[in-house]
Amino acid sequence: MRDSILPATIKSAQLVLRKNDTGVFTKPGPHQYPHQWNWDSALIALGLSYFDLPRALLEIRSLLSGQWQDGMLPHVLYHGMPSDYFPHPDFWEIEKSPNAPRVQTTGITQPPILASIIRLINEKQAIPDFIREVYPRLLDWHRWLHTYRDVDKTGLVCIIHPWESGTDDSPRWLKVLEGIPIENKLTFSRGDTRHVKENERPFPQDYQRFMYLIDLFRKSSYNQAEILAQSPFVVQDVLFNAILHRANLDLQVLGAAIGENTDEIDGWIALMNANFNRRFWHDDDGLYYDFDVVAQKPIRVNTATIFLPLFAGLASQKQAKRLLKAYFNHPDYYGNNECVLYQLTSASQSLFSWDPRRYWRGPIWILMNWLIYQGLQAYGFIAEAEKLRDDSLSLILKSGFREYYDPRDGIGCGSVEFSWSAALAIDWIMQDL
Ligand code: GLC
Repeated sequence: MRDSILPATIKSAQLVLRKNDTGVFTKPGPHQYPHQWNWDSALIALGLSYFDLPRALLEIRSLLSGQWQDGMLPHVLYHGMPSDYFPHPDFWEIEKSPNAPRVQTTGITQPPILASIIRLINEKQAIPDFIREVYPRLLDWHRWLHTYRDVDKTGLVCIIHPWESGTDDSPRWLKVLEGIPIENKLTFSRGDTRHVKENERPFPQDYQRFMYLIDLFRKSSYNQAEILAQSPFVVQDVLFNAILHRANLDLQVLGAAIGENTDEIDGWIALMNANFNRRFWHDDDGLYYDFDVVAQKPIRVNTATIFLPLFAGLASQKQAKRLLKAYFNHPDYYGNNECVLYQLTSASQSLFSWDPRRYWRGPIWILMNWLIYQGLQAYGFIAEAEKLRDDSLSLILKSGFREYYDPRDGIGCGSVEFSWSAALAIDWIMQDL
């Protein structure tokens, strides 16, 4: 069955990427996400690279065109496209920062997966000139993270907004966000609930808090030291650090391939290796937890990001085995049961906030499955990895390229024609053809 269906799936995935292509960048989704998002673009470039390498490289160049002068690569580039998206470019007031680029962007970043994607593309078709061109920009971004976001010199970097984690309304943020006052409401009109049902999007009070943080950043003119000193939301995030570590390993390989000295990257890698497990691993529960820097305590919430250290090679074989046995395959957490038929839920089913249709509170995301699939493969858990891939492709066959899926019935939620679901399906299928 697969053999006859999969080539057709590639064709429809290509169609989604073409439809969302503006010529310069690819929208993550046609209505809900009409601009260029940072990690989406990297993944989209991977998908495009299978059938149009020049277009894939253009996607990356276009993302890098929004880099701030201090090295930060922003989470969204607006590219002057008119839209009903909120927050719109003016809301951010990035011109208050001396580092803002000429292109309109947001003032925060996203998980730095780009270097890893460029390495994957280069492994399929060597692109040494392109690597020479973009290497200094990638290095600047990673250096910015290690300089401005390493608050305690552990080599672990922090995020200052839930959106920087890419898992925007994860239950990991609930307790941290509770400390943010929302009595003096900012007035704005949300755009996200115009195209997607309200019960699939963040609650209003959480959205108020997201805006409160942006307001604080613009009042601080995006001065990182000032923000870190004042903000109630400063978190060392397992997912972000795992992705950064893997990206540093990949950047090291790219640098060596073009004859660059990688001492600086080696230093970041050594520090992360020394401190990642010390900070995030909790042997009592056998889980990785994020760390709330303001409260100086772990955020004891079990979401699918507990498996991300496998993507970075940061877990030991013993830790990985324990995570799989106690959580991945366990029906009370991430395993299948009479209610949940597909893997992998973005949050543990055991959580009080578990909500199988709401954004990051439970639904399945193709990207999370893809990242965890890579980790499982690398650790030799082939059956579990294949299950994630099969479940992901089944969801796509059943409900199309959606932003996320209800793990009980596979119903598609959020944005339609979602680009990274298409791009990653291409990557998965092409590996087999
Ligand atoms: C959502 C996701 C984020 C993604 C963006 C665009 O906000 O949480 O990770 O980058 O959509 O697709």
